[in-house]
Amino acid sequence: MTLLVRNILNLRSSPSNVICRKNIYTTPRLSSDMLLVHRDSKENNSKIPFQFTEANMKRIQALVQNYPEGSQMSAVSMALDIVQRQIGWIPISAMHKVAEILSMPRMRVYEWATFYTMCKREYRGKFNVKVCKTLPCMLRGSDIILQAVEDATCCKVGGLSEDKMFGVDLVECQGACANAPVVVIDDDYYEDLTVCDIYNIIQTLRCGGIPPCGPQSGRFAAEPCCGLTSLLTCPPPPGYCIQRALFTSCDDGKKKK
Ligand code: FES
Repeated sequence: MTLLVRNILNLRSSPSNVICRKNIYTTPRLSSDMLLVHRDSKENNSKIPFQFTEANMKRIQALVQNYPEGSQMSAVSMALDIVQRQIGWIPISAMHKVAEILSMPRMRVYEWATFYTMCKREYRGKFNVKVCKTLPCMLRGSDIILQAVEDATCCKVGGLSEDKMFGVDLVECQGACANAPVVVIDDDYYEDLTVCDIYNIIQTLRCGGIPPCGPQSGRFAAEPCCGLTSLLTCPPPPGYCIQRALFTSCDDGKKKK
């Protein structure tokens, strides 16, 4: 036993093993790692009033009509989404407003807003740039893409650029793995990205333009990069591979009528 332990210790300290040792490093915090509780701050406290615009108020009233009497709290996700579209994030006073309009306990609104990572509880810039870092995107170079995003926006993960135009976040799978690496800016997906694409996209946004979203490689949707490999011919007409006997009986039926 002692010999075994000694052998293990020797092995661990052998030079070749030191060279092969895996580096341990820490990764930046994900947006899903954000603090789940609210802490009052100068910019986010219940004393700062929040009001929906008239148009948004009408939207919420229309949404509430979709639910039976007494179940208006089912519209909470849509009401919070409207808050976010109105001012870009969801402060605590807006949550209180939503609770008041939907006649539901404030706690229920807090629960919703803290559970879903798409609910931004702090201002994340005019453009919230979310870089996917889950395995398929990582295998396709999301690390390099993240570095390019940070350089192009002059903003580190979790932070805001100095002009408050960009906020960069790391996120888990965005559901477009076939087109990795993927970056989502607000509601738009940018796929098949290269470092050059990132600089172009950020520069276009900075200049007030709207860069075309979707795969940047030129392919359509998620079709193969080298062109179609299946479904190369026109689809067969209706009735393909149906037994002849079935056709006959259909014809007979028509004749009888
Ligand atoms: S892993 Fe990035 S979109 Fe799925």
